[in-house]
Amino acid sequence: MNSAPSATTVTTALEMSNVRKVYTMGDGSDVVALDHATLTLGSDEMVALVGPSGSGKTTLCSIAGGILSATEGRIVVGDEDISGHSAKELTKFRQDKVGFVFQSVNLVPFLNARENLLVVDELGRRTGAPAKARADQLLEELGLADRAKNLPSQLSGGQRQRVAIGRALMNDPALVLFDEPTSALDTKLGEQVMELIRNEMKSRGTAAIVVTHDERITHYCDRSVHIIDGRLEA
Ligand SMILES: Nc1ncnc2c1ncn2[C@@H]1O[C@H](COP(=O)(O)OP(=O)(O)O)[C@@H](O)[C@H]1O
Ligand SMILES: [Mg+2]
Repeated sequence: MNSAPSATTVTTALEMSNVRKVYTMGDGSDVVALDHATLTLGSDEMVALVGPSGSGKTTLCSIAGGILSATEGRIVVGDEDISGHSAKELTKFRQDKVGFVFQSVNLVPFLNARENLLVVDELGRRTGAPAKARADQLLEELGLADRAKNLPSQLSGGQRQRVAIGRALMNDPALVLFDEPTSALDTKLGEQVMELIRNEMKSRGTAAIVVTHDERITHYCDRSVHIIDGRLEA
């Protein structure tokens, strides 16, 4: 049969198996933030991660994105097993494979919209003219071409979030992690941003985890996974 994927075809964007994360507090006590978390994302799948505050959502995204190391378990992003990665390997992995959009948009305040996209690529795989062309293309696609020279303080909340989305897409990531991307926006703007996120992910065939505690947001995703006290439930 020829139907089996070839060795180079990657059909999953993320495989987390039995991931555990324990934070050790200053007083020596432990907090179990993730417990036997197992989650698989198809290569173009968009999954809502829903759960109350403190349930482990940011921890899960941080581990999937190589910001934090797991205490135990296996994490494969695309074709790369990052479970045993050193800090240096994780840095390279983040530059190449993932994008992040945080709740607190985190734009550099003294750089304009275009420069905020380019700052990623100072370190990443594209530099110089190709990076500039990529930034301009993304600004155009996100409806921000005429805001390229604006500082974050000269942009609306929705526009800032669009710049953050553009920045996350600069390196053509296999997986984008959205940690409560709409929580600082009003309902209407939140829905517009989710619509944009969905269109961007689906047109690129990019996988995403969208963290939210807003059930309305889940409708923009292919499926929802719930997390309670560090445990995942479909
Ligand atoms: N750096 C840290 N040190 C100690 N405990 C932490 C740290 N980060 C998160 N936690 C704890 O881990 C649990 C999960 O946190 P988090 O992943 O931020 O949850 P969520 O994003 O769902 O609100 C919480 O009990 C939180 O207090
Ligand atoms: Mg969080």
